[in-house]
Amino acid sequence: MSFYSKPTTKFSRRVRERVEAEHSVEEDTRRELVRLYREEFGKMPEIVTSAPGRINLIGEHTDYNGGYVLPVAIDRRTYTAAGRRMGDLFIAFSKELGKKTSFEIQPGKFEHSNFWVNYIKGACTLLNEMKQVKGLNFAIASTVPRGSGLSSSAAYVVSIIEAVTRLYGIGLKDTDVPILAQRIENEFVGVQSGIMDPFVAKFARADNAILIDARSLDFKYVEMPRECSLLVCVTGVKRAIATTEYNKRRQQCQDAVAAISEKLGRPLQSLRDVDESELTPLHGKMDQVLYMRALHVVTENQRALRTFDALGEDDLSLVGKLMLESHLSLRTNYEVSSPELDAYVEIAEQLDGVYGARMTGAGFGGSAICLVDSAKESELANEIAAKYRGKGFEGGQVFMARTGGGSQVER
Ligand code: GLA
Repeated sequence: MSFYSKPTTKFSRRVRERVEAEHSVEEDTRRELVRLYREEFGKMPEIVTSAPGRINLIGEHTDYNGGYVLPVAIDRRTYTAAGRRMGDLFIAFSKELGKKTSFEIQPGKFEHSNFWVNYIKGACTLLNEMKQVKGLNFAIASTVPRGSGLSSSAAYVVSIIEAVTRLYGIGLKDTDVPILAQRIENEFVGVQSGIMDPFVAKFARADNAILIDARSLDFKYVEMPRECSLLVCVTGVKRAIATTEYNKRRQQCQDAVAAISEKLGRPLQSLRDVDESELTPLHGKMDQVLYMRALHVVTENQRALRTFDALGEDDLSLVGKLMLESHLSLRTNYEVSSPELDAYVEIAEQLDGVYGARMTGAGFGGSAICLVDSAKESELANEIAAKYRGKGFEGGQVFMARTGGGSQVER
């Protein structure tokens, strides 16, 4: 199968107009950022980099189990304008937060109250261990909605790494960028996230989904069929328990590996090393919760691989079916869904023109996604949003997402 051989179908005028409108939002953000940088620092930035937010089509809670994920980047990005300054001081300005802060590299000193700065500190501290990083000015702006499960943090940290490495001539291999980004989140921000989000922020390709083997870090692209669109259904909710529960799931998976390994009588590195036929006979013979967690991961890896193939064959019905199965498994076996996410999926499932829907990202709020017939995308977006409100949920938002490319130098 060739990933690149599909003819480009003509976009309708409506779609073209919308894509153009979105480009101008991104361009306005970029331009405004450069203006802000000049205003704050009295000169032009030496570099502007960007990285995208993402949605995960399928392969949820598999990355930290050495499994498969299949995300796409969206056309909403975080932009970092940066330039070197004399001395050792780092000054950073965030457009969205309207906050400015300064710091010096002091290993071990991280501000829990000033959360957003930890990403920049982490990047400068770790890069400084490779090659000396002196003072820098940063201005940061983003069109990735925060707290919506669209990985605004990976977009943010990857765009910073891209800027700092270039300004100080630090030759980081491409695959080291997401690895470093993950370390920053794990060690400097205190979130035990996996490799998926920074990986897609670095390597995404517009119009394509990317299948990542989170164990080997091998990856390959598959073109998204032209006749479908993706809707992002933001719940407007981020539960405080999300981080604790996320870390708890990671621990449960490790415990499941130990329990299954003992039962099977062979060492296992991760849940990637178990298949469904080995696992199901263990039902009732091991801790029930650990069994359910393992069952989700083992079946989700298969769904991610099958979805990749189905996309290559333009089999959108199968993709949709696998998305729904994934959601059910996340809801009942992995227990990371929420009433809002379930509501979106239940609403979408019943509408004509929807191939499938599921929660995306870590869960406990955040966003759901729907794969829909592109001819009906805007009417479906409106209908889903109205029905969500009709169920009494406030603060939701449904938007059409185009796929985007990975991190890049903008100027
Ligand atoms: C978060 C993490 C990812 C991944 C997903 C769940 O987005 O950052 O690494 O584990 O949750 O699939």
